Amino acid sequence: MKADYNETIPNNVNLGDDRRLLRALERWHPAYIQWWKDMGPVNANETEVYLRTAISVDTDGWAHFDHVKMPDYRWGIFLAEPDPDRTIAFGAHKGEPVWADVPGEYRSELRRLIVTQGDTEPASVEQQRELGRTAPSLYDLRNLYQVNVEEGRHLWAMVYLLHAYFGRDGREEADEMLERHAGDPDRPRILKAFNEQTNDWLSFFMFTYFQDRDGKFQLAALAESGFDPLSRTCRFMLTEEAHHMFVGETGVMRVLQRTCELMRQHDSTDVRPFGGINLETVQKWINFHYSICLDLFGSERSTNAANYFSMGLKGRYQETKLDDDHKLDGEQMEIARVTEDGGIDTETISALTAMNLKLRQDYTADSQRGLNRFNKMIAAHDIDVELTLPDEKFNRSIGIYSGIETTPEGEIISGEEWAKRKAQWLPTDEDKTYVNSLMVPVTEPGKMASWIAPPKRGIHGRPVDYEYVLFH
Ligand SMILES: [Fe+2]
Ligand SMILES: [Fe+2]
Repeated sequence: MKADYNETIPNNVNLGDDRRLLRALERWHPAYIQWWKDMGPVNANETEVYLRTAISVDTDGWAHFDHVKMPDYRWGIFLAEPDPDRTIAFGAHKGEPVWADVPGEYRSELRRLIVTQGDTEPASVEQQRELGRTAPSLYDLRNLYQVNVEEGRHLWAMVYLLHAYFGRDGREEADEMLERHAGDPDRPRILKAFNEQTNDWLSFFMFTYFQDRDGKFQLAALAESGFDPLSRTCRFMLTEEAHHMFVGETGVMRVLQRTCELMRQHDSTDVRPFGGINLETVQKWINFHYSICLDLFGSERSTNAANYFSMGLKGRYQETKLDDDHKLDGEQMEIARVTEDGGIDTETISALTAMNLKLRQDYTADSQRGLNRFNKMIAAHDIDVELTLPDEKFNRSIGIYSGIETTPEGEIISGEEWAKRKAQWLPTDEDKTYVNSLMVPVTEPGKMASWIAPPKRGIHGRPVDYEYVLFH
C-alpha cells in the first residue's frame, strides 16, 4: 500500500522526514486496518460517525469534528509540545536532563512498560466490539465509536514509540499487538481485566468509568517518565482519556437518574418490571468492575515497580506535587499482610517497593469522587441508598488479598461462605440475562432506551437529537 503518510497520518513528529520510521509504518499500517476491520466495532465499516479527530496538538487542532467512516479515521501521532528545560523529577537520576533517546541500560524495562500499556488499547476495542449492535441511542453509539477510535490512536502512539526507538524488537512487539486478542485462549491480552467481555452497556459505562480511569493513572505515572518521548506521548493521550471517563461517569449517572425516576414514580425499589436497572444491580456491577481494576495495578509489593521508579522510568501520580525527596532511598512504610491463620496484620517494607499501592490509592480516591456525585443525585430524589466502592480486599486475584475472601465491607469470610453469598455481591447469570434483555438498539435520533435518561447536552454544541451516526 502506497500512501502519503504525512498526509494520512496527521502528526507532529516529522514523519515525512524519517525514512526508517516510514518504512516500518508502511508495513504495520495495512495490518492495523485489517485488524480494525476484523476485530474492531462490528458492522461499522460503512457507518459515518460524527467523530472528533486530532489533527494537531494545539487547541484548535486537537478537536476537529466531522462525519467519517471509521476505517478512514485519521489516526494521528502526537506528542505534547516539548519542555526544553525539563529534568527528571524522581529516582536515581533526579535533576538530570530528560532523555531524548532510550537509555541503553533501561531499554528492556522501557520496552516492557510501553508494550504493557500499548496492549490495553486494542484490547479495549476488541472487548467492546459487539456493543454497536445494542446502543441505547445514537448519541451513545457515537460515544462508543469515539472511544474506540481513540483507543486505536493510543495504540498508534505506543507503536510509534516502539518503531521509532526500539528497532527490530520494537517492530516485532508492534506486530504482536495485533496478534494477541482479548479473551483469546491461546494468545490473550497481557492483563486479565482486558480479557473480560464487555457485552452490555452498563458494563461499558463501568468500563469507561473504572478501567479507563486505571488508564488515566497509568498514563499519568508514565507522563512523569525521564524518557521524554514517552512522557510527551502520554501527556497528549491524557486529554483523550478524560473524554472516556466522561462517557463512563455521565453514562452511569444517566442510568441512575432513570432508575431513581422509576423508583419515585412507582414507589418501589424494584424497577425491573418497568424496564429499569435496580440500584442493587448497579452496585453489583460496581463491585465487579472496581475489584478487577484494582488488580490492574499489580502487587502491592513489587520490585519491578521499585526499579521503574529508581530508574526514572515511571513516577508517581503528580510526582512533582509530592512533598518528599522523590528518591525514597531507605524510606519504609507499613503495609497489610495476611497472617497464617487468615487474619490481617501489618509489616514494614521499603517504600520504593510499594509504588503500585500508592498509585492504586490515588486511583481509589479519584473513583470515590464520582461515586459521591452519584450519591448526591440519588439523595436528590429522596432515596436513602448509597453506592459504595467495595473494600480493597474484596474479590481480588492479585496481590496481598488474592488468597482470602471477604465481604464488600472487607470482613474476612471462609471460602464456603463466599460461595454461598457471592451472588448477593457480584453479577449473577440471572442479573446478566436481565440486563442483556434491556439491550435493544435505539436508532431514532434523540430517542433513548427505557433504562437510561437522556444526556444533558449533545456533542460539540449539537442537539441531543442530532444524527450522530449515519447508517448506509
Ligand atoms: Fe487508551
Ligand atoms: Fe481510554
